[in-house]
Amino acid sequence: MGFPIHRSRRLRRTERLRALVRETHLTADQLVMPLFVCPGTKVRNPIGSMPGNFQLSVDELVTECQQLLDEGIGNVILFGIPESKDPVGSSGYADDGIIPQAIRALKKNAEDLCIWADVCMCEYTDHGHCGVIENGEVVNDKTLALLSAAALTYARAGADIVAPSDMMDGRIGVVRDSLDENGFEAVTIVSYAAKYASGFYGPFRDAAESPPQFGDRKGYQMDPPNALEALSEVAMDLEEGADIVMVKPALPYLDVIRRVKDEFEVPVAAYNVSGEFSMLHAAAQNGWLDLEKVMMESLIGIRRAGADIILTYFAKEAARLLRK
Ligand code: PBG
Repeated sequence: MGFPIHRSRRLRRTERLRALVRETHLTADQLVMPLFVCPGTKVRNPIGSMPGNFQLSVDELVTECQQLLDEGIGNVILFGIPESKDPVGSSGYADDGIIPQAIRALKKNAEDLCIWADVCMCEYTDHGHCGVIENGEVVNDKTLALLSAAALTYARAGADIVAPSDMMDGRIGVVRDSLDENGFEAVTIVSYAAKYASGFYGPFRDAAESPPQFGDRKGYQMDPPNALEALSEVAMDLEEGADIVMVKPALPYLDVIRRVKDEFEVPVAAYNVSGEFSMLHAAAQNGWLDLEKVMMESLIGIRRAGADIILTYFAKEAARLLRK
C-alpha cells in the first residue's frame, strides 16, 4: 500500500504529531559528564581543545557537581591529573591520591551524585601507557594487580561505579574479585569493553595530560575495522562480572553499539569522546554548523543505535536544552 493512500508527511506536519510518533527519547538521566580533577585549590584551567571544559581542583569540582545536579545531571565520571607520575602509576592507587580526595569531597558535599571513577594507568604513569612497561611493551598480567588496587582504592573512597578503561585482558575478573573480597560487592563495574585505538581521543589526552610518550595504544586497544571482536570482548567482560558494557568512541562505531545491544541483555553505554565533541565545536566556531542542532542529533543518534547511557562532554548543555 503506497501513495496516495499513504502519505508519510501527515505524521510530520506539526511538532505535536512528530512528538506523538517519536521512537527514541533522550533524558538527562541517561547522560554522564566526564570531569578532570587536578591538585590545588581554586583551580579552573580551561582545556583549549575542549571549549567549556576545565581541569578542576577538588573545591571547584564540588561546585561544578552541585551545579550539574541542579541542571539534572546526576552522573559524573572522574579522571585524575596527579601531582606526580612514575613508571608504575603509584599515584593512581594511593589512598590520598587525587581521585580518592575528589570522591570523598563529593560524597560529603554532593550526596545525590552517582560517582564513576575511571580506572586506568595512563594518567599516572610517566610513560603515558595504560600499564607496566617491560622491553618496550605493556605487560598484561603485571598491570592487573595495579588496576585492581586502583579500583579498590576508589571503592574505599566511596565510588558508586568503577570503570576500567585500560583494555588489559582479564581485568574485569580481577577487579570484581578484589572488590568482593574486600566487602565492596555492591560496587558496580562499567567495563570499557569495546574500546578502539582511536584518533578521536586527541583532545582528551591534552586534558588529562596522558599521551603515550612512545608508540601508540594499538597493542591493547581494539583495531577499528573489527566488530565481531567487540562482541567477544563484551561476552568475556560479562562473564568476568561487568554490570554495564561500553562501546567507545560512539559516532564512528554506531554499528557496534547496535550489535552489542541486540546480542546481550545488559545496559549498554557509549562514550561520545573528546574528538567527537571538539570537532562539532570547531565547526560551530567557524559558523559551519549549528552547535545545538548537531549536538542533539549526535546524542539521539547514539541512543537510536542502542545506547542506554551516553558519556558526553555535552551533558550539561544537553540537559539545559532538554528542559526547554
Ligand atoms: C584512559 C582513557 C582515555 C579516554 C578515556 N579513558 C584515553 C585513551 O585511551 O587514550 C578517552 C576519552 C575521550 O577522548 O573523551 N585510558
